[in-house]
Amino acid sequence: MFSMATVSRLAVAALFFFLLAAEAASAPVTGSKHGIERYSRIFGFGNSLTDTGNSDIYPLTAGGVSTRPPYGQTYFGHPSGRASDGRIIIDFLVEKLKVPQPLPYLAGKTAADFVNGVNFAISGATVLEPEFLRSKGLMVFVPVSLINETNWFKHVVRLLSPSVHEQRKIMANSFFFVGEMGINDYYAALLSNRTIDQTASLVPHVVGTIRKAITAMVTSGARTVMVTGMPPLGCAPYLLAQFPGAPSDYDPVSGCNTRLNGLAERHNRALKVALLKLMATYRFRAFIYADVYSPIVNVATSPTKYGFGKTPLAACCGGGGGKYNFNFTMFCGVRGSTTCTDPSKSVYWDGIHFTEAANRFIASAVLGRFQ
Ligand SMILES: *[C@@H]1O[C@H](CO)[C@@H](O)[C@H](O)[C@H]1NC(C)=O
Ligand SMILES: *[C@@H]1O[C@H](CO)[C@@H](O)[C@H](O)[C@H]1NC(C)=O
Ligand SMILES: *[C@@H]1O[C@H](CO)[C@@H](O)[C@H](O)[C@H]1NC(C)=O
Repeated sequence: MFSMATVSRLAVAALFFFLLAAEAASAPVTGSKHGIERYSRIFGFGNSLTDTGNSDIYPLTAGGVSTRPPYGQTYFGHPSGRASDGRIIIDFLVEKLKVPQPLPYLAGKTAADFVNGVNFAISGATVLEPEFLRSKGLMVFVPVSLINETNWFKHVVRLLSPSVHEQRKIMANSFFFVGEMGINDYYAALLSNRTIDQTASLVPHVVGTIRKAITAMVTSGARTVMVTGMPPLGCAPYLLAQFPGAPSDYDPVSGCNTRLNGLAERHNRALKVALLKLMATYRFRAFIYADVYSPIVNVATSPTKYGFGKTPLAACCGGGGGKYNFNFTMFCGVRGSTTCTDPSKSVYWDGIHFTEAANRFIASAVLGRFQ
């Protein structure tokens, strides 16, 4: 549970974001801290950056690389359903909020299974529906979207109590964490040979759908929703390796691709405006924007200042060498891949997902002021 100091700092942080956002958009809305309560459980949404076991159970993805060593080697000592060498952001959040570890949705059935929180996040999930992506000629990897996750959530709400009053009470003292989503939609577009500008035309659809999902949470009684922004796409080894840009596209200090980062920034701006609109519509709720973009850009720019090694854009686990050490034929966990000696010095674990060290760094940047 939160201490009072934590509660008031969280309120201040929420208000602070609100003020920043209000200033940015000059919207005449008012914030409130009345939505800050003690939390009994967490509900998580997202993709592989937030998945703690669903993709291991979902038949289409079961047995994927993250079910094999060296995934989980740093913290759990064995693969744990997480796409990392250890804990991911939601794990640090669970620790900070002192709530139980949420059950992966696909691992449960009954109200008793779900009463201590649920993680709906599943690897490969897009925001947009597979039908929509296909209709645009885009490829679909895993046919699960944020809309599926929202429907799973609604199912859990009904399971937890037949009484709407009781449901709303349960949701009011739950913490809602929407992990980063949208990256798989943009990746699908890039892999389908769309330019970065064409890919950016998806931003309003992606953010609009995230906003609808948050609205579903709030109308079920949610009062505190943390929404994660997009990390810097142009610093991710898998995107750097697969979508080379012109020499002028790279930041001279970090080596990140500024055009891919521009796509992430565009998403984040739209997301912040969407949160602002939600704040205006649903007063007395807390909407917290979790900025994962700045911490990763900071680390990519000055890795040693933050305790990381000198090659922040190289995958720790994988193969292929070069600046990014990323090649799908030697993906982490596949025969022929190798693991760096000290993953805590790496930002990217397998070239797509973060190391536990980077997840901890992001989590403390996002949650640090709630201490
Ligand atoms: C996701 O939603 C679509 C559309 O409603 C549905 O056809 C599909 O079966 C759902 N998938 C899962 C895994 O629930
Ligand atoms: C994208 O372009 C590459 C190279 O021209 C081609 O091999 C690939 O099939 C294209 N992919 C799609 C999905 O159109
Ligand atoms: C990845 O590895 C394969 C097999 O070794 C090689 O043929 C291919 O050129 C590599 N791709 C890149 C982008 O380096």
